[in-house]
Amino acid sequence: MSELEALAAEVARCTRCLLHRGRTKAVPGEGSGDAEIMFIGEAPGFHEDQQGRPFVGAAGRFLEELLEIIGLKREEVFIANVIKCRPPGNRDPLPEEIEACKPFLDRQIELIQPKLVVTLGRFSMVRAFPKARISRIHGQPRKIGGVIYYPMYHPAAALHQPSLRRTVEEDMRRIPELLQQAAQIAESPLPPEAEQLRLF
Ligand code: URA
Repeated sequence: MSELEALAAEVARCTRCLLHRGRTKAVPGEGSGDAEIMFIGEAPGFHEDQQGRPFVGAAGRFLEELLEIIGLKREEVFIANVIKCRPPGNRDPLPEEIEACKPFLDRQIELIQPKLVVTLGRFSMVRAFPKARISRIHGQPRKIGGVIYYPMYHPAAALHQPSLRRTVEEDMRRIPELLQQAAQIAESPLPPEAEQLRLF
């Protein structure tokens, strides 16, 4: 069993926060362990909770369309969430839930060592862009500890607000160029709130 698989098994048994009581299945994340790109969403929704897989509902179909724009399939990237169990009624994750689940996401990033971490939506963005507003910083990469963090709107936001669709597609189209330039992108000073990112 790979370390990623062992981690997924640990997530499936996790009782670190109360969300484990309501889950059908935990959703550790899936994709290639050698992925250059990781996409990090917010939390599992209804379908994800049923299947134990990330982004399998409407937002997932849109994410797959976005990946197609840059010639990728979901198996070629790694897709995970900030929290691994579905919040009741799809409410926003609570700070204590995000904190309890953080070691899992940290470890996934550490094991996969992606060049690019695409954060989808504001809960995911907070890791590298604390206190930022997504409307201001989407599409602007920042390198921290050798990893480029690239904030994008959540695909579900574009489904609810069709005017965002083009923005999301344009941000996606820049990814191949970012990967190519990865080595030249300068390191950002670490925001104090993201101190823990020093770990990787
Ligand atoms: N939205 C998310 O943020 N993650 C999923 O896995 C599905 C929908």
